[in-house]
This record gives sequence, structure tokens and C-alpha cells, in this order.
Amino acid sequence: MCGIVGYTGFQDAYDIVINGLRRLEYRGYDSAGIVLEDGNNKLEVEKTKGKVEDLVNISGQLKGKAKIGMGHTRWATHGVPSDRNSHPHLSNNGKLAIIHNGIIENYDTIKTMLTEKGFSFKSETDTEVLVNLIQYFMDLNNETDFPTAVRYALNEVYGAYAITVMHEDYPGVLVVGRLGSPLAIGIGDKEYFIASDASPFVEFTKEAIYLEEGHMATISLENGVDIRTITENSKIIPEIQKLKLSLEQIEKSGYEHFMLKEIFEQPKSVHDTMRGRLLVDEGVIKMAGIWDHIEKFKNANRIIIIACGTSWHAGLIGEYLIEEYARIPVEVEYASEFRYRNPIITDKDVVIAISQSGETADTMAALKLAKEKGAFIYGICNVVDSSIARITDAGSYTHAGPEIGVASTKAFTAQLTILSLIALKLGKHNGNLGNADFMSLTAELDAIPKKIEDVLSSTHELVQNIAKDFVNATNFLYLGRGYNYPAALEGALKLKEISYIHAEGYPAAEMKHGPIALIDENMPIVIIAPKKGHYDKIVSNVQEIKARKGKVIAVVNNGDTQVSEMSDYVIEIPETSECFSPIVASVPLQLLAYYIAVYRGANVDQPRNLAKSVTVE
Ligand code: AGP
Ligand code: GLU
Repeated sequence: MCGIVGYTGFQDAYDIVINGLRRLEYRGYDSAGIVLEDGNNKLEVEKTKGKVEDLVNISGQLKGKAKIGMGHTRWATHGVPSDRNSHPHLSNNGKLAIIHNGIIENYDTIKTMLTEKGFSFKSETDTEVLVNLIQYFMDLNNETDFPTAVRYALNEVYGAYAITVMHEDYPGVLVVGRLGSPLAIGIGDKEYFIASDASPFVEFTKEAIYLEEGHMATISLENGVDIRTITENSKIIPEIQKLKLSLEQIEKSGYEHFMLKEIFEQPKSVHDTMRGRLLVDEGVIKMAGIWDHIEKFKNANRIIIIACGTSWHAGLIGEYLIEEYARIPVEVEYASEFRYRNPIITDKDVVIAISQSGETADTMAALKLAKEKGAFIYGICNVVDSSIARITDAGSYTHAGPEIGVASTKAFTAQLTILSLIALKLGKHNGNLGNADFMSLTAELDAIPKKIEDVLSSTHELVQNIAKDFVNATNFLYLGRGYNYPAALEGALKLKEISYIHAEGYPAAEMKHGPIALIDENMPIVIIAPKKGHYDKIVSNVQEIKARKGKVIAVVNNGDTQVSEMSDYVIEIPETSECFSPIVASVPLQLLAYYIAVYRGANVDQPRNLAKSVTVE
């Protein structure tokens, strides 16, 4: 949810924390704050509602003052975004500072207890309760040292957290803990970094420890990293990972926004997702995650796909793909609904979680439930070593590279690519997909990156012009049939998320069952109408819209005439197999949402109220 950065070492902590927060700002961005220990055992805090740059404007005096510090960008859960509610929070005695990502669910009970003991609170946050609980344990017994008090406190709370805590009497020491929210520790030479993901420290070190669920660590220059379980205090020997992330991957490379950069990266990201897996000439799809557990898939009664948001849309397309080619029944569920409705799951089920971040709390919780009930759980994640990637029995990474724009684009098309590979592989293996069809479909899939490239160059300018005409629209409908119905849902979500224009996606044929009432000359309707896929039926749908004077923006195949003649705006894309058409058709829809938002002056990379990874339920 939010971004956490910490540093202890020999460099200027202010610079490292601020630059780290800039990299993590996509995670949460309603407020920002920093705390440093100035070398005289004094904690200095600056924090403000607003962006990291607002923090920079008020905190310049801290530059060059300290070698240890930490900072936070907030995505509010408890209390409005305000200066007071921003992190870091200090304990009542002013000696402890905390930053926190997540939710302390029982904060109210603890707050009541602490209030009775004389504690007072400046903010409405759950976080401030936790820092005072740590102080409480230290006050209770002066033999209780700082890390032990953090451990005692964490044993009293439930919810989700990644925390970093400093104590002014413990110079050079950071104590961190995690349950449900990610936290990485960068190991440098005589310096340590803490962050929600590795991007803030990738330029300083390539070695990192991803803290495991239920673990905490005491990090000091003197004693290094001491990891313990929170419940038992058992010592853990961590695995040190080698980071593959490069600085270039997480910078904008000349694009105005990350979202535009990521849209344009799709020929590469789709290609990277297939690389080494799709061996067209040999007629082979290599996927170790599937192959090593092929019996599980073969004998599955059904596959349940769980996901949220854009990943859920990818799941819907996955359902069509797997049912069509592998003939295994598939159900697609919103992770948040699945886990709370006592679903029937058995050990004959395969549950696939799709998640760009691999950290989405709803998806994680649903997976845990499926695991408890004995299902085989499989992950499709973009972030390597993310929580979902680690709790699943097996999985396939989408190698889309870091996605920073809050609105998911390249992760979505990479998810569709993986799902296509899985469906074709399973279909071939269980004999439902004949060799000739397999060969022609894989050849077509292999051609998709080039088709995306063509779409980007042929539609980029056109879509900008179309976007200009709809800057003041207040509503949009997106329609598609078959495989392109979920693509319509995704197109509508993109527009909603970044331009704040109300948009709905519908199966085109459903229009006449209700949404048609909305159509008048002010209603723009984006209709996805490739040649393959109920084209004739879509022609009728367009006629129904035009009879009511709706404004049609049609996404059609190159050289289309019928739908094009009736439409107000035409976006041409190359033809492909129906099952892969959402990968290609989504690209101009992403551009359309992007440019409408840009022309409306919206912050496309950091849309209001959203966060990149939603680590609270
Ligand atoms: C995508 O544009 C959204 N910001 C959001 O719906 C997202 O897809 C959803 O929160 C799921 O995230 P995940 O893929 O990281 O699990
Ligand atoms: N629950 C905390 C708050 O509202 C932390 C939210 C976050 O993850 O940024 O302040």
C-alpha cells in the first residue's frame, strides 16, 4: 500500500530516504514524512499531507544531518490524509518513531487500554497506537530492550503490517517486522537499506533479504541483520537474494509518464513473457511450473481463478482460453468475495491466483483459504519473490518488468500471454487441441509482439485526436463479445481509474437488456469488433446504437468496412486469432484512457485514491 524506506550506514540518510520515497511514491501518495536521528540521540521529524515533493519543500534543513533515518508515503486507511495523520509517528515519550504499511485491526482495544494507562494520541491512525504499545512494554520493565519491546507489541496486534521503528537511545539501529505487507532489506558494504520493494536501493546494492511473513529483524551497523520469528523469537538464517532489477527499468526513459512508457513496452514485455517458453519451430511450450505438476492439472475437476481488478479481467479471458482449448471447467472469482463465502474447494481443484504485484491482500487471503482446503495453488505474478509467488505450490512469472504506473497495462497483456500459453499447453497435453491447431495458434501467438508494435505506431496519433473530442465526456460505455467482453471491462476500468470519467463495460449483446436506455447523442461507446468473433452480431449492435444517435468509437481489423462505415471514429488493428485479439485490442484502449486523462490534466501515474498494490483487505 504505502512506501517504506529506511537507511543506516555512512551516507546522507536524508538523500537516500527522499530518493527512495520518490521511487516508491506509486505505492501510496496522500502524505509523506521522514525521521532522522541527528547523531545527538535526537529524532527529527518532518511530515506533511501531499506528495514527496511537498515533503522536500519543508524538510531541506535535514539534509546532511544524519546517517540513519526512515521515510514513508501514506495511503490512508485510518484517518484522513493530513499532516497529523502522516507517518512517522512518535511515541508519547518522543523516543520512538514508527512507519507502517497496512492495518492494525485491533487498534481500538489497544488504544483504550493505553488511554487508561495515561497515553494520549495526536492522530487518528492505527499506527500511533502501535508505537505507544512498544513504549508501554519498555516502560513496564526497564530490562526490556528496544527489539524485545517491538516483538512483544507485534505479538499483541493483528492485521497486516510492514513496520520500521527507530529509538533515539539505540543509535544506528532499525527494527523491522512484517506480516502481510512486503519488506526488503538491502545489504550493502557497511550500510543497510529497508524498503517496500528493492527499487529504492538497487543502485547501491544487488544483495537483499526479503523478510518472511511473521519475521522481524534488528539491523545495526555493529551486529548486522538479526532475524527472528515474532512469536517464538527463534533465530532465522536468511537467504540472501541477488537482485536482477536495474535502475533503467524503474526510470521513465524519456516518456512523460510511466503509464505511457509501459504501454509502449508491450511488444517487449509480451515477447519476454514468451521467451524461452514458446518454441514455435519445435512445436513446444515449455513451462516448468505446469509441467512439474501436470498430473494436478490433468486430473483437476476444475480450475478456479482468483484475482482482483485488472488481473480479474485477465482471469475472465483465461477462462475462455482454458475452457476452449483444454476443456477443463474454469470459474473466475473476485478474491475478496471468494474468501468470505465459504466456497466449496477440494483437493481435486486447482486454484490459480493472478496478481501483478503478488502482494494483493484479498488475493493472498483467498489463496491461503484454498491451500487450507487442500487445493493445489498456482501463481501468475509479475513481481519476483512476492508474497503470492512464495506461498503458491508452483507458478509462472509474467516477465513484464516493473510496472510503476498505478493503472496496469503491460502486466495485463503479459498475464493474457501466460494464460494463452497455459491453455495451449494443457490442451495439447490432454489431447483436446490437435497438432495442426496447436501449431497455427502458437505461430499466431508468436506474431503478437509485432502486431502490438504495429498498433502502437499506426494508432498513437489517431487515438490522441480521438481523445481530444472526449475530454468533457461524463460517461462511456465499452462493449465487446466473447473474448473481447473482458477486454471491454478492462478498457472501461482504465478510463475510470485515471480520468475519473464514469465508464461501464458490457457484453455487447447485454446492451439491449438495460444499458441501451443510456444511449443518446452524448454517449460515447467504444466497441471492440474484430472480424473473428461474432462480427455479424456486433454489426447489429452498432446499428442499434446508431439508431439512438450514440457516438461509436470502433476498434476493428485493418480494412474493415461494415462497422467502420457506421462508426464515428475508427481504430484499425491487425487481424489475429479471436483468442489473442484482446491482447492487441487492449493497446489502443489503454492509449485512449491515457490521453483523455492527460488532456483532463489528471495525474495518470498516481490517480486519486488508488495505490499500486493493495495490501489491505
Ligand atoms: C489496475 O489498473 C488496478 N490498479 C487494480 O485493479 C489492480 O489490477 C488490482 O488491484 C489487482 O492488483 P494485482 O494484480 O497486483 O493483484
Ligand atoms: N493504517 C495506516 C494509516 O492509515 C498505514 C496506511 C498505509 O499503509 O499507508 O496511517
